[in-house]
Amino acid sequence: MERGKSAKGHGAAKTSRSSKASSSMSKTGSMSKSESMGKKGGNSLLKQFFVEQLQDIYWAEKALVKEFPKMQKATTTEELAEAITDHMTETEDQISRLEQIFDMMGEPAKAKKCEAMEGLIKEAHNIIDETEAGTATRDAAIIMATQKMEHYEIATYGSLVQLAKTIGMNEVAELLAQTLTEEKGADQALTQIAEGNINEEGAREEEGEQQMEEGDEGEDD
Ligand SMILES: [Fe+2]
Repeated sequence: MERGKSAKGHGAAKTSRSSKASSSMSKTGSMSKSESMGKKGGNSLLKQFFVEQLQDIYWAEKALVKEFPKMQKATTTEELAEAITDHMTETEDQISRLEQIFDMMGEPAKAKKCEAMEGLIKEAHNIIDETEAGTATRDAAIIMATQKMEHYEIATYGSLVQLAKTIGMNEVAELLAQTLTEEKGADQALTQIAEGNINEEGAREEEGEQQMEEGDEGEDD
């Protein structure tokens, strides 16, 4: 609102400018920041953009909930299958959280097709088709495809948290930050699995030879 002050206002002009501003803002000046930006600024361009981005990630999360069971089924190791199942449960919570946010904003929970996630899902399908079932290489590929999805979500939620704060919707920002933490956790869990033994196991695999058997994950337990 008062952004003009920093660029060229070298102190001297400051006093007269701010007194002028306060006399002409007698009404809006009494509003708190959240009132003026969160509710009254209800139709600002930034808020409209924010809602559109919520619709985009809402579509993406719903698409992922349908996609994860397919990816889980294609895994070789129990460890990766479990990690995907865990994140699917989290994703269902994230969808509910988004619905809660739409509700808090007085907007209908509407999904708008997310081209980026659609592309990442297509890529995941290709990766599954192109790798051999029952191999560690398949798991390494699924981890990579899933991490690309997670990174898209991390970028999106990171920006959404900031936008929510900017438009004065701090409770919404907190909910989005919870999801952001979950996405980062899922990403780290996948990295740990990859670093555990899947990548190394995959590096030893060659075409045509007998691959990992189910349950044989190179671990004692
Ligand atoms: Fe998610």
